[in-house]
Parts: sequence; C-alpha cells; structure tokens
Amino acid sequence: MLTRVPGLLFGGDYNPEQWPEEVWAEDARLMAEAGVNMATVAVFAWSRLEPRPGEYDFGWLDRVLDLLHAHGIAADLATATATPPPWLVRDHPEAMPVDAAGTRLEFGSRQGYCPSSPIYRAHAVRLARAMADRYGGHPALAMWHVGNEYADHTLECFCEESARHFRRWLTERHGDVAGLNAAWGTSCWGQHYTSIDQVNPPRKAPGPINPGQLLDWRRFCSDALLECFEAEKAVLRELTPDVPVTTNFMSLLPGLDYWRWAEAEDLVSDDAYPDPADPASHVATALSYDLMRSLKRRPWLLLESAPSAVSWREVNAPKPPGVMRLHSLQALAHGSDGVMFFQWRQAKYGPEKFHSALLPHGGTAARGWRDTLRLGDDLRNLHEIAGTGTDADVAIVFGWESLWGLEAPESMPSDRLRLKDLLLTWYRPLHERGVAVDLAPPGRDLSGYRLVIVPNLYLCTEEHAKALAAYGGRLIVGPFSGVVDAADQVHEGGAPGPLRDLLGVAVDEFWPLPDGETQSVRLVPGAVRPGTAEGGEPRLTARTWAEWVRVLDAEVVARYEGGELDGLPAITRKGGATYVSCLPEDVTPILDHALAETGVAPVAAVPPGVEATRRGGYLFLLNHTTEPARLALPAAGFDLLSRRRLDGEIVLAGRDAIVLRIEGEK
Ligand code: GLA
Repeated sequence: MLTRVPGLLFGGDYNPEQWPEEVWAEDARLMAEAGVNMATVAVFAWSRLEPRPGEYDFGWLDRVLDLLHAHGIAADLATATATPPPWLVRDHPEAMPVDAAGTRLEFGSRQGYCPSSPIYRAHAVRLARAMADRYGGHPALAMWHVGNEYADHTLECFCEESARHFRRWLTERHGDVAGLNAAWGTSCWGQHYTSIDQVNPPRKAPGPINPGQLLDWRRFCSDALLECFEAEKAVLRELTPDVPVTTNFMSLLPGLDYWRWAEAEDLVSDDAYPDPADPASHVATALSYDLMRSLKRRPWLLLESAPSAVSWREVNAPKPPGVMRLHSLQALAHGSDGVMFFQWRQAKYGPEKFHSALLPHGGTAARGWRDTLRLGDDLRNLHEIAGTGTDADVAIVFGWESLWGLEAPESMPSDRLRLKDLLLTWYRPLHERGVAVDLAPPGRDLSGYRLVIVPNLYLCTEEHAKALAAYGGRLIVGPFSGVVDAADQVHEGGAPGPLRDLLGVAVDEFWPLPDGETQSVRLVPGAVRPGTAEGGEPRLTARTWAEWVRVLDAEVVARYEGGELDGLPAITRKGGATYVSCLPEDVTPILDHALAETGVAPVAAVPPGVEATRRGGYLFLLNHTTEPARLALPAAGFDLLSRRRLDGEIVLAGRDAIVLRIEGEK
C-alpha cells in the first residue's frame, strides 16, 4: 500500500484557506460524490498557520481535516513550508534568494527562500514539528507532503550564505584547495585558487564559467534543496514514524538528481502537465512516468495533473473531452497508484484563477464536472490494479550528471545535443512498439535486462563503465559517451574513454552538424535483420551530431555516406555492444534488430498512436488518436472499464482505453 489509503488514490490540491468557511461543506460533499479519497492540504498555508513568529492558528485546519475525515477523505498533509510568510522575509531579508546577477528577489510570489538559509531552514523545521505535533494522530492523515515542487521557481541562490555553504560542500567533496584546483582544472584561464574561501558560486561573469565549477554547482544545488527536504523529514520521522513522506517531483526536471532524492523519499510522487496542444506529448509523458516507476522500482503516485488547461504556458490549451480520462489512465498504465490533480476547486483569484480544476468555476453544471465524476467511477472500477508492478526487459540508462555536463553553456562542440532528445530518440520507437522500458542510473547492476540502451553517457566514470561491461548482454550506446570523468575532465585518449574496450572504437573528432543539415548513414548489408534491408540498403538520416570514428576491434554496421565523413564508420558493433556515433532521426532498423536478437516481445502489437503497457496481470491499451483503432488482443480478458469480456479482434474508439484483466493470469 502506497499510503495509508487502500486502493487507488483520487483527489487533488485543496486550498480551503482561499474560500469562506461556508463553502467547505459543499466541497466535502462534492468530493465524496465524485469518489475523491485524498486531498492535498495546506501546501501554501504557512502565512495562515503561523501569522506571527511562533504563534499558530491551527483552528481552521483542524476543522478542514475533521470535515474531510467525516466524509471519508484522507489528507496528503503539507508541512506548509513552500512559501515563507511576509514576516519572516521582512525580519530576515537575507532569507530571500539572490539571482546570478546579484539581485535579491522580492516577496509577492512563492518559493521565496534561499535553500541554504539557516533562518528559512530553522523556521521550516519548526513549522514541520508543530504540524506533526498537532496532526500526527489525526485520523485523516495519510501521508506527509514536504515543501512543494522543489526547484520549480527556486533552484539556486547566489547570496553570501549560499557561497559559504557551497565552500563547505566543496571542502567535503575535494578535501582541500589543491583537490579543488585539480578537479576544476583551474590552471586554465588563470583560475588557480589558494584558498577555498576565494571560491564563489558561478555568479554572472565576463565570459563562460569553468565547467567544473558549474557541474559542482549543479550537484550542490540539488543537494542543498535535498538537505531542506531531509531536515523536515527527520522531524516527521521522529514524531510520526509510520506516516509516509513524499515531495512532489516534476518529471524530467533538469535541476534535481531524482535518483538521489528518491532514496530519501518513502514514496515517489510526480506532477505532470503534458501540453494538450501537442499531439505527441504522451510519449515524453510515458518516459517520465517510467522514470518515476523506476526511481524506487515500485508503484508511485501522480500527485498533480491538470483536469484541463493550465495557466502558465503562453497559450493554455484545454483538454478536449476524453483527454483528461486518457491522460489519467496513462499514469496508471505506467505504475501510478492514483490520479491526483491541481486543484480541487478552481480559484477565484491569484495567478492560477484560469487553471482548470476538478470543480470548475461553472460548478457542477460545467462540462468539467462530468469528467470528474466519470474518472471517479473509472478509478473505483480499477481499484484492484493498485500495487501491481511492471516487468521490463529493456533498460534505458540515464543520469543527471551527464545532463548537467552535456548541457553546460558555451563550452561544448554543439549546444544542440540535449539529453531529453537523445532519450526520446530511443524511447519513442520502444513506446510505439509496446515494449516495456525501465530507466536505470549509471552504475546500476543491469543483469536482469535483455537489452540495455545508453542514449548518452557524456559523464562516464570507471564504475559506470564497469557496470556496463559486467552486464555483458546486448547493449546500445549513443554518441558523445565516455567523454569526461566525474570532474568533467576528458578521459585520457579521448572518447569513449573507459568504454573503449567494450565498444572497440576510438572517437578522433566530434562532428556536430549545423542546424538543418543532415548526414546520410548507410547500413552495411547483412548487418541488420534481412527484412529491413529489402528494396536496397537501408539508409538512416542523422541530424545534429556525427563523429569521426576509428575502429579498433569492432565490426562496422553502418558508414557515413557523403560529406566530409564519407565512408567512415557511423555505427559499430563489438560482441553484444553497438556504438551509434550519430543521432539518427529514426533508429528503428537498429532497434528492431536488437529486439529480434534478444527476443524482447512487445506487450501487445498495436497500431500507431495506441499505447500498450502491462501491470501484473493487467493489460492497458490507450488510443491517443481521435480515430478508432482496430487491433487483436493478445489474450482474452475482462475490461475493467467497460465491464465486458473481450476477446480476439476489437475496435478501440478514439481517445478511449481498455484495462484488461487477462484471463488465467491473475
Ligand atoms: C505545480 C504546483 C501547483 C500549481 C500547478 C499548476 O504543479 O505544484 O501548486 O501551481 O503547478 O499547474
């Protein structure tokens, strides 16, 4: 059980402090009517709970929690520390964050705190303690929600306090100034320090900043916020040892190393806001959901999503009928044990007054309310899938340190190589084929997988390389991998550094392609599955990136064709390990070959736009198109949504879904 509530969770952020108390009874009644069983409460309520230093006003929250409990609704109770109140900021202006140019930010929004501020941390921990003292025994309490979307607005602060904290962190990491000088390569551009006290955060400087300094800064910022989370968690653990603690992640957020964060969480929760205006957004969403499931290798919780439009894009497209349901089912399909929303009642004021909600401005007469009721019914029908897991034969290796290194500004061969694009290059066709995928951090034991794909491992340590070599199975490594060590220093002999023996190649030069330019890649006949070679030699088109590769002891699978790299190896293979030195628009010939070779089977054969996943003995089929899709079920079963037995060939309506309890598999 993910929290103290059995089955699937359904509900959303509830901000009763924004409404007169007369409204609350209606809220609770309608929540119960819709089947809501959990509400996230008090996320931004610090200024209402502690209106003056150390003076608490819990009365209103007592009444809210009692009311929820009386209606059978549990609370994901926030520690309320996401936005410090005005008095704290006025008494301690130094607790507000400072940007890279040295401007101290003002009060008037949210997340106004310096992550390193001892004042912020002490007050946050004090409030968390007061909340746990007050509500630790409340029967509505199902889980703790610490902070909110760490790094959403405030990832970093460049103030003096942060500088001192950064120096302590650096001393711990590098030992002394000599260690730091060596790691950062400060002999370059005359940056040799004689004391760590001379080091500052990477504030605005005349030119590009030392990439070693930037990489450590990224690590530090992730760690500094994690310390904030852990400080509150320690208090909650002490006072309420049995109540699970989470903080809501933000999918593939670049700022925080969620592999590290997930270790500190009792359960992983995520906020996801795919853009309804983007017909392909469900693919990137599926990737981030698979990441969430992989972080702790067990069910997670979609803690926020939008019933329809958000309010923070330049243009905020609503979700057409059926899409809210489909997107919700997608989260379940990828291992979430519930569907929660931002927010319960649509706001009357503030920056989010046009953000959709489960209960829209138009009330129960509005079309959105029908969607809310329908989803409540669906979730009741799906109750039995809670807790089921996903078995994947394919792993994609991904780590934040490579992302940070790869995306450092103004010092790379090309700033067009983005790790998310690289991930999607491989993830998209796997997803289209209905192949289940786990994500794994660099260095993890991969022995359970039949196929491992490393779209990029720019930052590759000896340990990372050892884990890949120890895996020994079918492996595909993408371009610009094995380039630097943990300090962002180029490996001796150049790329792919510690992967050289495994891949059997050396990269002599990176050959980034200008925008709009393509590079043809010709597969060597016989190197791919015969079917893909029909009608002549298959060619791939690469964009963005290519490399001048020298083969050491690998076989050439494909060569560059035309241009300066004409005839040089583009894709190679040594034993089970393939190296792809470019970024093909379409990797399917390589992928299909690897899938066939390893016998990795899709969950179900699906037409384009239909997503197929498995959880335990349940098959999810989601039609993301607006057209009916015809497909053959791999097995007979009972559709939990339509409550019908299905078998053989079926037609799945546009934006509709099936969740099949497969016969004989339960
Ligand atoms: C995030 C925040 C919420 C709200 C939503 C709006 O998820 O956590 O408080 O602002 O965005 O989409």
